[in-house]
Formats: sequence, C-alpha cells, structure tokens
Amino acid sequence: MKRILFVLTVTGLMASCGGGDKKEGGEKKDEQVTEKKDDVSSNPDYQNGLALIAKSDCLTCHKVDEKLIGPSYRDVANKYAGTSDTIVTHLAGKIISGGSGVWGEVLMTPHAALTKEDAETMVKYIMLLKK
Ligand code: HEC
Repeated sequence: MKRILFVLTVTGLMASCGGGDKKEGGEKKDEQVTEKKDDVSSNPDYQNGLALIAKSDCLTCHKVDEKLIGPSYRDVANKYAGTSDTIVTHLAGKIISGGSGVWGEVLMTPHAALTKEDAETMVKYIMLLKK
C-alpha cells in the first residue's frame, strides 16, 4: 500500500512538472502560428500564384494597385471578395479563355497554354490582395 502511494506521488510530481513545461511551449507555438496566418505573403497560394504571374505576361496589363490595360489586382480582389467559392474556377476559366465586358470593352487575351490548376493558383493569389 505504502509503495503504491509512493509511486502515485512520484508520478503526480513528474506529471505536474512536465505538464507545466509543455503548456508553456505550446502557447508560444500557437502565437507563432497566428502571426504567420495574418501575414498573407507566407501563404503558399500567395507565393506560388505570384511566381506564376511573374513568369507569365499578366504584368504587362495588370498591376497590384494601379489600373493598367486591365483592372488592378486589388480591385479584382475587392470586387469578388465574399462571393461564392466558384469564383476561383470562374476567374481561372476567364484567364484561360480571355474576354471582356466586366471592367470595360478592352479584351483580356486568352492564355490557352495555362493549366486550370496554375490559373486557379494565380486567382487565389489575386484574391489574397483584398483590402
Ligand atoms: C492584354 C492585356 C492582358 C493580359 C496580358 C492579362 N490580362 Fe487580365 N484582364 C485584362 C483586361 C482588359 C481585363 C478586363 C476584362 C473585362 O472587362 O471583362 C482583365 C481581367 C482580369 C481578371 C478579372 C476578370 C473578371 O471577369 O472580372 C483577372 C482575374 C485577370 N485579368 C487576371 C489575369 C492574369 C492572371 C493574367 C496572366 C495570366 C492576365 N490577367 C493577363 C487584360 C489582360
């Protein structure tokens, strides 16, 4: 009986010390995760989309903050923010087939060589620019 009590006490002591340490470490980790979440530039969609856009011809007609031949990406993101999830597929399709009529009469040239996945990643990056 004495022995069981002793074991229980020791286990209890170890658990409380160990538990305390773990909790501290866990809280710190949570803070880091939250910080990362707030910074969109560490989002993989942001990084991959931006890289794809930089490789393509998009930036000859689009800028992030200024209207060029096409609307600024920030305007596109703000226009569609909060609309349904199908917007990514819709806009990716428009990048691939080209088109006009939403922002004016100027035509966006088609990008038939782009895969659906790459076009969608570009759209996800653009959507992260909303303010
Ligand atoms: C020749 C110039 C040109 C190029 C190159 C171009 N765009 Fe556009 N883009 C436009 C114009 C003009 C519009 C507005 C079309 C409209 O009014 O429907 C537009 C519209 C868009 C829209 C919003 C579509 C909508 O229906 O609201 C997105 C998203 C977009 N472009 C992304 C891209 C991406 C990504 C690329 C590169 C793969 C690209 N564009 C290349 C001219 C261009």
